[in-house]
Amino acid sequence: MAQKKKPRANQAISTSATASEGEVERSLRPQRFDEYVGQTKITDNLKIFVQAARERGEALDHVLFCGPPGLGKTTLAHVIAREMSAQIVTSSGPAIERKGDLAGMLTNLAAGDVLFIDEVHRLPTVVEENLYPAMEDFSFDYMVGEGPAARTLKLSLPCFTLIGATTRTALLSSPMRDRFGVICRLEFYSPEELGTILRRSAGILDVTLEPDAGEEIARRSRGTPRVANRLLRRIRDFAQVLGDGRITLELAREALQRLEVDSLGLDRMDHRILLAILETFDGGPVGLDAIAATVAEEAETVEDVYEPFLLQEGLLQRTPRGRVATRKAREHLGLEGRPRQAGMF
Ligand SMILES: Nc1ncnc2c1ncn2[C@@H]1O[C@H](COP(=O)(O)OP(=O)(O)O)[C@@H](O)[C@H]1O
Ligand SMILES: [Mg+2]
Repeated sequence: MAQKKKPRANQAISTSATASEGEVERSLRPQRFDEYVGQTKITDNLKIFVQAARERGEALDHVLFCGPPGLGKTTLAHVIAREMSAQIVTSSGPAIERKGDLAGMLTNLAAGDVLFIDEVHRLPTVVEENLYPAMEDFSFDYMVGEGPAARTLKLSLPCFTLIGATTRTALLSSPMRDRFGVICRLEFYSPEELGTILRRSAGILDVTLEPDAGEEIARRSRGTPRVANRLLRRIRDFAQVLGDGRITLELAREALQRLEVDSLGLDRMDHRILLAILETFDGGPVGLDAIAATVAEEAETVEDVYEPFLLQEGLLQRTPRGRVATRKAREHLGLEGRPRQAGMF
């Protein structure tokens, strides 16, 4: 199966993690449920499922997390493993190329372990099909020999928990989705929740974050903890070099302006996407591929990384005929009042 390209993102506030960020991100990652801010509908239920499984001495049922990048899917998988006192093995859909890769991973698991597969919608079909019996009956069919002498051996696996993460449930096949006992859709965070996350991160990074500055950064973090933490680290740099090390409201505003993060938290790519729709395509409706080509970005990245927040903020709408930029987008970009081109809306 042809591999889909990985969403690429190079913006200052991009929601994807870069390799060099891995370490800092891990240090800021909550370890337990009580450190995990927000998503309470999800965590309240998960706590019950975890406790119930622990009391019965069983592995937790398979769990699927869906939602845009940076909302805490990987973090939750690690929290669950820790709360279950289980080992976690992590991989991702595109990394498990062959059936043999999967066999190697599954046979190394101990009872109760967590297997975390990120981007589970990108598993090759043959791997996915072999995962089904593993998830359902904890068994794995293995072929030995070739030609007429070939036979299938059934390996029996320890009871494990598969935790899958995906940015888009729509891309997951329904047989795969049906095999998860728990499906959780993560939502964007409120500014208050992001404020709490920022205070916690500032404590870990040992930087003074003044309350009004924290609120400002929280409001401009696209509802996304990863963005909030990334902005905090960048603004800390500005505070260190341009100020006295403390993050004040004034300094935060100045830094956010330099980082090209606007009052709603939109960055340059968000602006380019909205402008492409509003100006090049007369407000839409326009197809995703045309937008992506205009802004020179992968369609998948536009859809997974940028659109969810634009939709949530009511700047963009999806219609059967394509994407439409809203009046709010027009106003936000200061285009309202300019003469409309013929055929608009
Ligand atoms: N609920 C949360 N509370 C505190 N920090 C969070 C929360 N969710 C995510 N984070 C922070 O955001 C970063 C990105 O989260 P991650 O789990 O990697 O997102 P995803 O896997 O959904 O892309 C983490 O390093 C963590 O520091
Ligand atoms: Mg992740």
